Amino acid sequence: MNEDQLSDTINNQFKNACTVNERSANPIVKVNRLAYMRYGRKDLDKAINFFKDFGLILENRSENIAYFRTIEQASHALILQQSTKEYSVIGFTVDSFQTLQTLAKHQQVEIQHRSDKLGGHYVQLFDPDNNLIEVNFGLNTLSNMPHYQAVVSANTPTLKARLNEVVRPQFAPPPIARLGHTVLAVRKFKASLHWYQDTLGLIVSDFQMLQGHAIPAVGFLRCDQGESPSDHHTLAIGSAVGIGHEHTAFEVTDIDLIAMGQKWLKHKKHHHSWGIGRHILGSQIFDYWRDPWGFQFEHYCDGDMFDSHVATRYCEFSGDSLSQWGPKISKDMLGIKPSIGLLIKVFKHLFSKTDLNMKRLVSLIKVT
Ligand SMILES: [Fe+2]
Repeated sequence: MNEDQLSDTINNQFKNACTVNERSANPIVKVNRLAYMRYGRKDLDKAINFFKDFGLILENRSENIAYFRTIEQASHALILQQSTKEYSVIGFTVDSFQTLQTLAKHQQVEIQHRSDKLGGHYVQLFDPDNNLIEVNFGLNTLSNMPHYQAVVSANTPTLKARLNEVVRPQFAPPPIARLGHTVLAVRKFKASLHWYQDTLGLIVSDFQMLQGHAIPAVGFLRCDQGESPSDHHTLAIGSAVGIGHEHTAFEVTDIDLIAMGQKWLKHKKHHHSWGIGRHILGSQIFDYWRDPWGFQFEHYCDGDMFDSHVATRYCEFSGDSLSQWGPKISKDMLGIKPSIGLLIKVFKHLFSKTDLNMKRLVSLIKVT
């Protein structure tokens, strides 16, 4: 059996064992992009400094709120709010007001209207783990950034696109092109997966499975835009002891900017988590960081784009299944530093309503 046949056999074995859906037959709506992340932070200035070093552009701030943008001519990609506790809100968009009305009617919620910098109309929903999700239409579009200078072209053995120019990426925060995806740790994997499929129309690109288990450990979901390609994943969900924001990823142009970003963030003494490497699922080149509160953020480039025809694939979940090259996955990335706090969390978790029972938890720990 060659490597391709072996991979097909493993795919089919897991597919046959899996008891969750790959996509919804009739979703209420189909979101078309991840527009923003909104975070509450106890120290707004500290949070602003981290994201400026990370490469986001502070477009507007007042005493209690800061709006960041990316190079992309879209809406604000990150909103930080002064808060007594940390929180995360995910903002998606739909392609018409009528679609938003359909969602509001089905979910029996009111459409709300914003008068702040972000603008637009939106509904607020809660996923099965109580994460707040905002679905928007008509967010304010930001102006073009004429001062942004694109990175020079790469030369390949057969195509010399860069002539009479040199490569000199700046020693500075790497310019962020756009917001790419976010990842949630969930307690009820099946319920969460089906909620995102049925309510927002997300479809699964890849499942990572545990041997002997019918419910995946991780699911990578993309927007269903028919013939138009979407990022391999806009949202990923994974079974975990904790719940909520796991990481959020921002796209940069190329590996030079990821590497210069690493150099800059290390120079500024930020907390490096894992990288630089290339993922298997999604194929992107990655580098992971933690903000001052321990939340993870990723720089990436060169990710896969799939249209809606690409079928869901299945593979085995393990620490080694996360990258094709790069340093071995760090303990920091896995979040498995042993502590009394973690033990208490695990103990409490086993007595809560969850898909992650003792058997699945042991399997997860073994493979990571
Ligand atoms: Fe990621």
